[in-house]
Amino acid sequence: MESISGFSKLSKNQKRGWLVSQLSKESISFGKFDFQSPDIQKSFDQFSENTIANFNVPFGVAPNFKINGKFHTIPMVTEESSVVAAASKAAKFWMDKGGFQSHVLSVEKRGHIYIEAMDTSFNFEATFEKVNQEVLVKLSPSQKRMQERGGGVLRSSLSLVQNLKRIYKIEICFDTCNAMGANFINTYLEEYAAKLLEVVGNKKINIIMSILSNYTPRCLVKAQVSTPIQLLGSIDGLNSKEFARKFKQAIDIANFDTDRAVTHNKGIMNGIDAVVVATGNDFRAVEACAHAYASRKGYYQSLSHCNLDGDVFTFTLEIPLAIGTVGGLTNLHPLAKISLDILGQPEAQELMKIIACAGLAQNFSALRSLITTGIQKGHMKMHLHNILNQLEANELEAIAALKFFSDKSVSFSRVSHFLNQGRLLN
Ligand code: MEV
Repeated sequence: MESISGFSKLSKNQKRGWLVSQLSKESISFGKFDFQSPDIQKSFDQFSENTIANFNVPFGVAPNFKINGKFHTIPMVTEESSVVAAASKAAKFWMDKGGFQSHVLSVEKRGHIYIEAMDTSFNFEATFEKVNQEVLVKLSPSQKRMQERGGGVLRSSLSLVQNLKRIYKIEICFDTCNAMGANFINTYLEEYAAKLLEVVGNKKINIIMSILSNYTPRCLVKAQVSTPIQLLGSIDGLNSKEFARKFKQAIDIANFDTDRAVTHNKGIMNGIDAVVVATGNDFRAVEACAHAYASRKGYYQSLSHCNLDGDVFTFTLEIPLAIGTVGGLTNLHPLAKISLDILGQPEAQELMKIIACAGLAQNFSALRSLITTGIQKGHMKMHLHNILNQLEANELEAIAALKFFSDKSVSFSRVSHFLNQGRLLN
């Protein structure tokens, strides 16, 4: 690749042309991935920068989620095979056992202004109290609108940043109602910081930065399934008691062994991210926060928990989810809008509950497979379909391969070898 200046100023076609000229391939048809609707394509091109094509990921739905007594079909965007099937299987399993219960524990988001106190004799604590009142009352129009919707600033406080000399942080807590709130919070913090500097003066303080925190441990939701153990029934060769016991052991392992906990939580995030993406929310923020939350006790633990209390099996997930149903991509991405329609235009808190249930369902199915048949059985069947597509197997070849590999492990080279043998014979 050569370097180029002024790339961002080129038209989309020029960008494509330059890129193709840099590759040894004769031509690449980026255009075949364009949307038919020019309006949709235009809005996509504006989501980010230097766009040359659309990168599609499958959009599926998992039906039969009974959540707090109401049925939902959950939209899921994921490229990973088995994820949607696993969510659907768990939803169906729990449907006649009371379904999922989910509730929001808290909805607070936070932002911070980091400040260096320039003068060691300066009493920032005393000044903060005074200035804070002054700054807080001067609301900009967007803050007023947020207040009218029942949100806005909840409280603020000042502290020293641990291990750093003269570095303070002002923490401001917000309720951002149905918005994820990143823009609102960042705008507020920057306005606040500017006002603070104006009042205190740049000889006394230096504003280092103002930014929301993606760590939202008080924007928390809990999802749960629960049933008398005997109603679990016999599951893939295990009776209900054996299943419950082994299931709890799997969770206990994830609670004490980081090697397992990361994979365990990754399985939960398979479900969470798929709905977060489908609804146009920021999955990087959700991911970063979830893993920090999993480490809140000083070591990395499972986000889900299992309790065998007497005869009752209870399985829960508690996870911070800073998501929204207004603003950002939720209103811009046409499929995100459809996802919200499928979910019945939920408020942000309702969506938090739904997403948590998708994560719990995903975790249930993964553990169910792991402690019974093993994960590869179901996974490999889907994987086999992908490999067969990649190798352009025809219908007869696919049927033969599915039969042949029904009791064997699948790999690209084995499937390729199998097809080649058949092709040589014919
Ligand atoms: C694969 O994407 C996710 C699992 O590894 C999760 C788990 O092990 O719990 C199956």
